Amino acid sequence: MADGKVDIFDTTLRDGEQVPGCKLNTKEKIQLALALEELGVDIIEAGFPISSPGDFESVKQIAKVIKKSTVCGLSRAVQKDIETAAEALKSARRPRIHTGIGTSDYHIRAKFNSTREDILERAIQCVKWARNFVEEVEFYAEDAGRTDNEYLATVIEAVIKAGATVVNIPDTTGYCLPHQYGEKIAYLINNVPNIDKAVISCHCHNDLGLATANSISGVLNGARQIECTINGLGERAGNTSLEEVVMILKQHHSLGYYTHIKTRQLNPVSRLVSDTMRMPVQANKAIVGSNAFSHSSGIHQDGFLKDAQTYEIIAPEEVGADGSKIVLTARSGRSALAHRFQKLGYQYNRNDIDVLYLEFLKVADRKKEVEDADLEIMAKSFDAIIITT
Ligand code: KIV
Ligand code: ZN
Repeated sequence: MADGKVDIFDTTLRDGEQVPGCKLNTKEKIQLALALEELGVDIIEAGFPISSPGDFESVKQIAKVIKKSTVCGLSRAVQKDIETAAEALKSARRPRIHTGIGTSDYHIRAKFNSTREDILERAIQCVKWARNFVEEVEFYAEDAGRTDNEYLATVIEAVIKAGATVVNIPDTTGYCLPHQYGEKIAYLINNVPNIDKAVISCHCHNDLGLATANSISGVLNGARQIECTINGLGERAGNTSLEEVVMILKQHHSLGYYTHIKTRQLNPVSRLVSDTMRMPVQANKAIVGSNAFSHSSGIHQDGFLKDAQTYEIIAPEEVGADGSKIVLTARSGRSALAHRFQKLGYQYNRNDIDVLYLEFLKVADRKKEVEDADLEIMAKSFDAIIITT
């Protein structure tokens, strides 16, 4: 593969906003779109314009203010949807219509009561409609994860011939294992004769906790776009998390892949999305969770204090996190306790720390976390013991 640039397609404002409770108004959507552009996202999926007048307005306003990123609008394989998306995107510098249809037999039979032949025709038709309005047309084969590879290759070849510039292979239900998803991408590369005319995109859901692994497997097998969201938000268990895939590619740069994301903005943007959507980030979330750079066990704290790299593969400042934290709990050791006392201005020798540590454990067994105020009390009573003896 010639170039290792991986395009980041952010769908926080579309798939992410579908999460119950995460609905945004136009002003909030514009604010987040500007932050995503500043972060370095290549494509912003701004919404689903036919879904409501409010979302139409949001996509329209975002199309007006965004200057560098491509602005994308979702549609079904329905003429009216596509026309509405085109109308909303009219002012965009780089508009993209994202259109498509379900290609797995589950979708073809249960959802559409249709046949593979009919779905193939509808797929071709929707791409042709969209190409009447914009240069960049992305086709999604919904539930591609469970679609028969041979049929999927037929559909993908036909939509590229019809003018699709990006082909999205969604694992809509989060079903695939990483090697299966990677093999699907490799199958398309090896069996779709015109695949070099389009970018392959990964859109993975997290129902089995594999969205990030599947997206990376897709890239390793030839995909060059990842669809993802800030904090991994998205339908049901969520989508691939932007911060995770970006940092995986950065950490493993020797593989030859890179993105244009400014990683120092990852934590600030994560907080902005969490606050605006009123959706807390789980503490142990990779890269952006409040515990992502916290060390609480004695063994880890001792190693970390000797050399941060013993227990941290990413420097917190590289992703805009507040900094590493040594949390004092009943599992902490003497090194961490001495370190924290030192930070508070108390210099104790090894014997002092041995005495203080016994006091510390009594407090720690009563509380979840020992705070600076607890240490100040311990220091004062320790001084009192020293003075009176
Ligand atoms: O998960 C999915 O298949 C989607 C498509 C609409 C791209 O979100
Ligand atoms: Zn999705």
